[in-house]
Amino acid sequence: MSSGAFQRAARVADVEEGIPLAVTLNDGIRLCLVRDGERVYAVADRCPHRDFALSSGDIVDTCILECPWHGARFDVRTGEVVMGPATDPLVTYSVRLVGGEVFVGPRRAGAA
Ligand code: FES
Repeated sequence: MSSGAFQRAARVADVEEGIPLAVTLNDGIRLCLVRDGERVYAVADRCPHRDFALSSGDIVDTCILECPWHGARFDVRTGEVVMGPATDPLVTYSVRLVGGEVFVGPRRAGAA
């Protein structure tokens, strides 16, 4: 992703509360979008534990995404690990909502 550039990722309406949405940006980066009310969070669709996709995981609490593979849990707001076996944080990205569209920008935090 080019530094500072925001790319359109989805319509806000396509991101359903409680259901992670897998998207691929124009530059090939795979993301998982998670909605919490009027906010949308973007994280890498790649678990830092074994690099499997997170987008088929479950939202088990407010903004907490559970990996479907070995059950690690992450706070999508910060990327923080809230339950192992993962030890490294999830990569998170900046998000802007403009005109009903989700735009994803630079990486904010996380490993890898
Ligand atoms: S790949 Fe996600 S917890 Fe193992």
